[in-house]
Amino acid sequence: MDLNEEIKLLKNKKNAIILAHYYERDEIQDIADIIGDSLALAQEAAKTDADIIVFCGVKFMAETAKILSPKKKVLLPVKDAGCPMADMANKESVLKKKEELNNPVVVSYVNTNADVKSVSDICCTSANAINVVKSLKEDRVLFVPDKNLGEYVKENVKEKEVLLWDGYCPTHNDFSINNLMLLKQEHPNAKVAVHPESPKKVRDAADFIGSTSGIINFVRNNSNKEFIIGTEEGVLFEIKRQNKGKEFYIIGKSAICVNMKKTHLEDLYNALKYEQYEIILNKEIEKKAFKPIEKMISIKRN
Ligand code: 13P
Ligand code: SF4
Repeated sequence: MDLNEEIKLLKNKKNAIILAHYYERDEIQDIADIIGDSLALAQEAAKTDADIIVFCGVKFMAETAKILSPKKKVLLPVKDAGCPMADMANKESVLKKKEELNNPVVVSYVNTNADVKSVSDICCTSANAINVVKSLKEDRVLFVPDKNLGEYVKENVKEKEVLLWDGYCPTHNDFSINNLMLLKQEHPNAKVAVHPESPKKVRDAADFIGSTSGIINFVRNNSNKEFIIGTEEGVLFEIKRQNKGKEFYIIGKSAICVNMKKTHLEDLYNALKYEQYEIILNKEIEKKAFKPIEKMISIKRN
């Protein structure tokens, strides 16, 4: 029996569900029950009735699933699939900054570790960040940890003071305006769609800015034939599936998140067979992190 069949058998036997982010390898997206952006996957994790959630993504995503479904077994197939941006903030550094800045409300991107969420007032993803910040009654916001997404929010929520953290995604922050301009010269008719984790100059030259799902929807609903895409290249699996006959060009020499690419089919198989690697959080952190994530889930997409 091939690996795909074995994975499906194990999944059914154990009443498990496989969630995968759009940046995962093609074969992982292909076998997943649900593929989505961070927000959609968090929403799915909150409502599934499966006994086991296998999260093909990075650690903060599996942690978010665990916090939302604390009674379920949540598995991350590759133990060290982390997010370098999430590691750019921790609970202590956030509390210190909050005090220095005279207690602004803390909005944390879901791309944070659970300890940061536990001291946050509300979470957001790239799909709802503007609406989350707009929804707050407070006027001063500390946005943790992505300075690019934070700046994008600041530009779109002029009525609030948005204070930025100095974090960034190594994959998106590397996109350069020079590279984008060269691509635009080569493909003058292409529309440009980028993720808000990209630097300002790149965002400013785009026709559309949005989460991975936002980019996928933009391309599907646009009759243009060529697109320049500014996000991790795994998203092309779904985009190409939905858009036969359109052409796509990715900004950057290597738009790859190495952590998202760590999960192979063998890891997924082993995760289901040996029920590894289970996400176990400190119970107090798990409890405290629930509220900001739950609050976020109740707010709609941008
Ligand atoms: P979204 O899924 O919100 O588009 O986020 C991208 C990302 O960097 C996930 O790690
Ligand atoms: Fe983290 Fe960037 Fe990878 Fe997303 S793409 S998991 S933000 S390093």
